[in-house]
Amino acid sequence: MKEPVRVAITGAAGQISYSLLFRIASGQMLGRDQPLILQLLEIEPAMEALSGVVMELDDCAFDLVKDIVATDDPNEAFESVDYAMLVGSRPRGPGMERKDLLEANAQIFSDQGKALDSRASSQVKVLVVGNPANTNCLIAQRNAPHLDPRQFTAMTRLDHNRAKSLLSKKLSVHVSEVSGLSIWGNHSSTQYPDVSHASVRGNSISDLIEQTWLESEFIPRVQQRGAEIISARGLSSAASAANAAIEHMKSWVQGTEEQIVSMGVYSDGSYGVEPGLIYSFPCTCAGGNWEIVKGLEVNSFSQGRMDQTEAELIEERDAVSHLLPD
Ligand code: NAD
Ligand code: LMR
Repeated sequence: MKEPVRVAITGAAGQISYSLLFRIASGQMLGRDQPLILQLLEIEPAMEALSGVVMELDDCAFDLVKDIVATDDPNEAFESVDYAMLVGSRPRGPGMERKDLLEANAQIFSDQGKALDSRASSQVKVLVVGNPANTNCLIAQRNAPHLDPRQFTAMTRLDHNRAKSLLSKKLSVHVSEVSGLSIWGNHSSTQYPDVSHASVRGNSISDLIEQTWLESEFIPRVQQRGAEIISARGLSSAASAANAAIEHMKSWVQGTEEQIVSMGVYSDGSYGVEPGLIYSFPCTCAGGNWEIVKGLEVNSFSQGRMDQTEAELIEERDAVSHLLPD
């Protein structure tokens, strides 16, 4: 049996976590042979609710779970963790953009970045889910100077999956037949879901679907899918977000083989994106590392969309400059 790894999940009494924890505990993220210790963080008013979630985890009698820590202290939650999933933060409601949450949530990620820096394993892999995810991730990363910026990622896998599902419906094929998609930029309504390198059964999607549908229906629908769900459910996406978080971590840890996935990662200047931003790129993963897929041709339409979402990320970064130590 492998040694247990430590997994921290913040916002552990929230709605995403209610879908996330039980799947992680049953081995769906790190494998059926990987024991784990769950380190669950909440704020003080939610600790009673969290105690109920812990009772339910106990009542599942998961064979992989070796211990559960429930705390409102980030230092305790992040002690020696190998994986940190930063979910805890306020979700948006109807009529809001995700960046409207910046003021409410930014401080959380500054504090948690510092706690990760001092307490987590030096190899910790961090996924930020809480919105606005890219800029919250940037804040956490910049407050953790002893960790490699490549250890911090933001979630755009949900957008990637949404795009894949919409294309499969349009082309009446199974989702598994759609490949080569990418989400560029921000997890926001400026994100650019790009099909220029995507294909189905060896055929380029650009040859199968007219550009007008892509521009007038597909791109806006993916960009606005979060709002569409909020309007229908009265609450933001939860089970699909938890699923995407599991897939993001699973890809990062177990590898993607030749599959392209979308991840918000530290920009090294690839594709002319400002270095240091947390920007979603097409990525592949192997050996526990992610790499940006290099050398894709970018046409002028794509470049315009990539620039637009980059500009929004720069604007968000500048709005939180007081939380970004050099
Ligand atoms: P929720 O309100 O149901 O749960 C959030 C939980 O976080 C609450 O239990 C709250 O007490 C806790 N929390 C707040 N501040 C905290 C702190 N400082 N430390 C620890 N816990 C804290 O919200 P949810 O639906 O689970 O969504 C969580 C976040 O995820 C939101 O910001 C939402 O917008 C975002 N989200 C992102 C994506 C994505 O694709 N990146 C998808 C869906 C939701
Ligand atoms: C989503 O994309 O579903 C989440 O980011 C929640 C939201 O605010 O849209």
